[in-house]
Amino acid sequence: MAGISQTAEPPIRIDTHLAPGGERSLADDVLDGLTRPFKELPPKHFYDSRGAQLFDRICELPEYYPTRAERSILEGSAPQIAACTQAVELVELGSGTAAKTRLLLDAMASAGHLRRYIPVDVTESMVRTSAEALVAEYPGLEVHGLIGDFERHLDEVPVASGARLLAFLGGTLGNFTPGSRRRMLRTMARLLGPEDHLLLGCDLVKDPGVIEAAYDDSQGVTAEFNRNVLHVVNRELDADFRPECFDHVAFFDRRHEWVEMRLRSVRAQTVRVGALDLEVSFAAGEEMRTEVSAKFTSDRVQGDLAAAGLELADWYTDPQEMFALSLARPTG
Ligand code: SAH
Ligand code: AVI
Repeated sequence: MAGISQTAEPPIRIDTHLAPGGERSLADDVLDGLTRPFKELPPKHFYDSRGAQLFDRICELPEYYPTRAERSILEGSAPQIAACTQAVELVELGSGTAAKTRLLLDAMASAGHLRRYIPVDVTESMVRTSAEALVAEYPGLEVHGLIGDFERHLDEVPVASGARLLAFLGGTLGNFTPGSRRRMLRTMARLLGPEDHLLLGCDLVKDPGVIEAAYDDSQGVTAEFNRNVLHVVNRELDADFRPECFDHVAFFDRRHEWVEMRLRSVRAQTVRVGALDLEVSFAAGEEMRTEVSAKFTSDRVQGDLAAAGLELADWYTDPQEMFALSLARPTG
């Protein structure tokens, strides 16, 4: 059940859909993922408040180009996007700190249309902090935040109040494997009426060396981000993972055109997950997958959009073609 808190001034409403015991929780993911022959944990569990801070540091790293590339594209294209979509509201999935979002909000405000912002994120502190900052920065803006899982809670996004722009930035769609990526796009398409648009940020296929450096930085921030999922499981499920006994692994899989992050057990070890009454054995050198991050071509983006009943309206990229923003609309 959703917990709802509302304040009259400033105009912020935050709905929480991450009630304890929700349909599919960390406990389910850990039980499913750690009892498989090839162990796996889904990437959404990286993002407790420490994980969110580590992700912010990743975005500043010299090797991690996606954030800078996407920002530079938005700097050039946001006014055109605002003019083309005439959007009065922005729904953003995986909104995080909403840092790049301000470029879109600025353009919508300059066009005289901006009415409402709807951030959706699993990390409560990010939704609350960005909501408070944004209502102070944009006079008259309503913020209706959703704390929830964008794979499960998109039905909770409020009915559109006018032309809507749905944004999924940062390349987060790449964190889905191909089947669930198409399912996610279909679910997103259901949030769009005939006059609405989707703005999708996708990292592009490029030199594998550049990609691998972005996911295995020299300061070890990405390694700490990767191990953070073990801290989350320890805290939330009374487990006794020793994060220092797992090495960070990141490699570009050329066949799938995605980066995989894994955690490799440095020795044979058994981990106890108290809340599940579960013991999990790792062989020396055994790897557990913690994230895929798919890299795209324009054909792949267009194929995925078409499968969701969407068509490309515009394609924006940076001069080095590192990253792309697709503006899409319902077909027909
Ligand atoms: N859009 C921002 C942040 C990207 S990081 C940017 O471009 O920089 C990915 C964000 O998605 C994080 O804020 C994380 O908390 C959120 N996230 C990851 N999985 C999620 C899920 N299943 N449901 C909701 N939010 C999720
Ligand atoms: C959020 N997501 C798009 C990031 C990515 O690049 O796949 C998460 C990340 N993982 C390692 N570094 C950053």
